[in-house]
Amino acid sequence: MQTKTLAKPPAETTILVTGGAGFIGSHTVVELLNAGYRVVVLDDLSNSNEESLNRVRQICGLSAEDSEADRLQFVEASILDETALERMFAQHDIDGIIHFAGFKAVGESVEKPLEYYWNNVGGTLVLADVARRHGVKSIVFSSSATVYGDPDEVPITEMAEKHEATNPYGQTKSMLERILSDLYVGDPEWNVVLLRYFNPIGAHESGLIGEDPKGIPNNLLPYVAQVAVGKLPEVGVFGDDYPTPDGTGVRDYIHVVDLARGHVAALDWMAGRVGTGEASDPYSMTGEPAADGSRRGVGVFNLGTGCGSSVLDVIHAFERACGKTIPYAVKPRRAGDIAENYAACDKARTELGWEAQFDLDRMCADSWRWQSTNPNGYAS
Ligand code: UFG
Repeated sequence: MQTKTLAKPPAETTILVTGGAGFIGSHTVVELLNAGYRVVVLDDLSNSNEESLNRVRQICGLSAEDSEADRLQFVEASILDETALERMFAQHDIDGIIHFAGFKAVGESVEKPLEYYWNNVGGTLVLADVARRHGVKSIVFSSSATVYGDPDEVPITEMAEKHEATNPYGQTKSMLERILSDLYVGDPEWNVVLLRYFNPIGAHESGLIGEDPKGIPNNLLPYVAQVAVGKLPEVGVFGDDYPTPDGTGVRDYIHVVDLARGHVAALDWMAGRVGTGEASDPYSMTGEPAADGSRRGVGVFNLGTGCGSSVLDVIHAFERACGKTIPYAVKPRRAGDIAENYAACDKARTELGWEAQFDLDRMCADSWRWQSTNPNGYAS
């Protein structure tokens, strides 16, 4: 089986997006369709809703009657389901993969380590195995700044040492970075990009798609949004005695649309359309380009804004966005949290030609539009 290539026009390229009905996945599908790609979403809907894809069709003008409607296909299946994956690769002429599917709740991963390792690590092994049987060896992996653990210094560059993760969720991200890198070591036809996300928030400006957490949110932004909409009484601020300007935790919040566009940039890089391909850090391995000019190797990129914002900065930005006061109370620190992290973004800028465009106020405004018009998420 000949290895598939990304070095052709997007209109002739089909990208498999696992987890494409989820928060980051659905926004990425919009940007892929906007860039002209054909997309197959594979999702088991365990933590997402198919309605998100109807909304994506609405945003991209792909109604059922549209001649282009088949540019977005949906397959309901788990990445652990080898038979379903075989069938999907046989039916669709997939050229590359953006792999989001996975469990993502830090706290839950401590309670359910077997489920997390099985689904995230096992599922990725099944996916990669079936993919290579079909000649598909280009994969963008949804990694996380969590692989840096408690950083020695900020901003964090891709050269920073990885530290042991404090929970099984973080371990799966680190392990999968290793596993996918080793695929390239063993077979230099693999083309792997590891994108280390900082804290994605916000929503599409249409207000049609956004984050739809099941139950009480674990993360700051959806929690703040649910307080703003009146579903929860107040925000608990986890610690105000960190060595940061206002004592609360500092993170690099990035607009989900910026993050989504980072994936499109990664495909351009893999196709050899942008970047020098020179590895500027020891972790990246850049191999000989293929005859068609597409890249082979492993690229590692931070996707952040380079700006740190505290918990109180976020609460106040959200107050500006929604025009209401957000009640909050300081609580003890949350186990496993770090004081501060934010990204060095130079590598993504120079290699991928990508840079975040939207600031915290815009992230909160878009998040509020989604939350206020869809108070019950896709269920409403
Ligand atoms: N926080 C609160 N109250 C809340 C929730 C969070 O004060 O109700 C604080 C946290 O203590 C932290 C900040 O808000 O200082 C951000 O917390 P999040 O839970 O929103 O995000 P984290 O930075 O803890 O985790 C995120 C992702 C993980 C990923 C990690 C990588 O959720 O998947 O970034 O750094 F691993």
